[in-house]
Amino acid sequence: MTDKPTSEQSSPLISTKALFATLIAALAVILALFAPIRNSLSRLPKTTIRSMSTTSSPALKITKRPWAARGHADHDWLYTFHTFSFASYYDPRYESYGPLRVINEDRVKPSTGFGTHSHSEFLIWSYIVNGTLEHKDSLGNLENLKRGEVQFTSAGTGIRHSEYNRNRDDEVHFLQIWAKPNKKGLKPHYETKKFTDEMKMDKLVRIMEYTDRLGDKKGDAPIGLQADLSMDASILSPGKKVTHEIVADGPRKVFLQVVMSKRAQPKEGGAKIKIGDTVLGEGDGAYVEGVHGPGKIEVESVGEKSAEFLLFDMGVYDA
Ligand SMILES: *[C@@H]1O[C@H](CO)[C@@H](O)[C@H](O)[C@H]1NC(C)=O
Repeated sequence: MTDKPTSEQSSPLISTKALFATLIAALAVILALFAPIRNSLSRLPKTTIRSMSTTSSPALKITKRPWAARGHADHDWLYTFHTFSFASYYDPRYESYGPLRVINEDRVKPSTGFGTHSHSEFLIWSYIVNGTLEHKDSLGNLENLKRGEVQFTSAGTGIRHSEYNRNRDDEVHFLQIWAKPNKKGLKPHYETKKFTDEMKMDKLVRIMEYTDRLGDKKGDAPIGLQADLSMDASILSPGKKVTHEIVADGPRKVFLQVVMSKRAQPKEGGAKIKIGDTVLGEGDGAYVEGVHGPGKIEVESVGEKSAEFLLFDMGVYDA
C-alpha cells in the first residue's frame, strides 16, 4: 500500500477502508449493470429461436408485393401478372429472389396459347388453377393439364415447347414459375404430378423439392428440382392456420403468393392470409426476410373464403 497515494494521507487505515468500500460499491454497480446485459446476452439465442416460431417476430421483415403493383399485360389472348421482370415488364427492383426468377399469373383465352419456343438453363413449372392447358415439347411429351396438376420441365441444355388452350369455351388460369438451377448443362427433364385439393386442404403440401433434400423418396413425393428451393401449396379455410418448418438450417428467403380467384382482387370479401402482421389478399405476394432455420413460419387464413397460396423456402443466393 505504501506506493499508493493513500499512504500519504494522515490516517492510512481509514483511507484504505474507504477505498475498499468504494471499490466494493463500484463493483456492485458494475455487477448490477452487467447482470441484465449478461442475462439478455444469454437469452439471445433462445429469443431468436422462439421468435422464429411466431410470425409476429420483429426479426422477420415482411414486404408485401401487392397484386396490382406487379407487372401486368392484357394482350387480349393473354391476361397476365408478372411478379418479377418478364417480357416487356422490366423493373430492376423486381428481378429475382433467391433462385426464384419468374412468377407469372396467366389467363389464356380459349383456342390460343404460347406457340413453340425454346428454353435452356431454367427450371420451369406450371401450377394449373383452372381450365385445361395443353403442353407439348420437343422430348415428345403431349399432355392436357388440369387443376391440381403441376408440369415441371428442367430445360437444361435446351428444349422447345408450346402451351396452348385448346378448349373453345373456357380460359385456362395457371401460375408459371421459373427458377435458376444450381448446375448448368443438365439433361432436359419432363415430369407431371397431381396434387389434389384434398391434399392441400388446411395443410401445406410440398410440391417442389430440392433434389439434395429429396433423397430417393418416390411415390407421393414432391417433384425434385436442381435448386435450393422448396415450394408448398395450401388451401386454407377461414380461421385455420398452417405452420411451415423451415427446410434447412441457416439464413433462408421465403416468398408467399396468394392465387387469385378473379381477374382483380375483390374489394370486399375474398381470400386473405396473414403472416406476422401482414395481411395478403388475392394476388398479393410477400417477401419474408430474416428467416433462419431451424424455425417455423405460421400462416393464418383471415378472409371470407378459402385461400389458395404458394410458399417458397429458398437458399439466399441470387438467381
Ligand atoms: C373456372 O373456369 C370456369 C370456366 O372458365 C369458370 O366458369 C369458373 O368460374 C372458374 N373457376 C374459378 C374458381 O376460377
